[in-house]
Amino acid sequence: MGPRILVTGALGQIGTELVEALGEKHGQGSVIATDVRSAPGCRILDVMDSAGIQSLVKDEGITEIYHLAALLSATGERNPDLCWKINGRFTVSGYVIPVIPLVITNVLLVMAPGH
Ligand SMILES: NC(=O)c1ccc[n+]([C@@H]2O[C@H](COP(=O)([O-])OP(=O)(O)OC[C@H]3O[C@@H](n4cnc5c(N)ncnc54)[C@H](O)[C@@H]3O)[C@@H](O)[C@H]2O)c1
Repeated sequence: MGPRILVTGALGQIGTELVEALGEKHGQGSVIATDVRSAPGCRILDVMDSAGIQSLVKDEGITEIYHLAALLSATGERNPDLCWKINGRFTVSGYVIPVIPLVITNVLLVMAPGH
């Protein structure tokens, strides 16, 4: 069985191209594109919505997360607390998206290019 892939921030510069590339590689049905903004083919998901993101990860059997949701550059620097909550961080025990407790899921891979 192939991967089940969640992409956050899928409507951004990287996400737009990555969703297309992952769909070509694994099949469109394997990729769930999400963003806080609305667009055809993309589910609305705010990565700060803990319950929403956890149920999506469980219900869809997500095995890989490409975490692209982000506040970049000056916007992030003006809002450091919000930036941390959205962008996530690395710790000694692994990558942490604050609202996704990966230990309760089957997620094997998290890619976070902002770090
Ligand atoms: N663009 C580059 O050249 C580049 C290079 C290296 C690393 N990166 C990293 O890749 C990641 C994505 O970069 P990008 O250029 O695509 O950024 P972007 O600003 O184009 O896209 C970010 C997306 O996140 C979404 N978003 C913001 N808040 C959200 C929230 N609360 N919940 C869900 N979605 C939310 C926005 O709507 C937007 O679509 C960042 O971490 C960035 O640092 C980007």
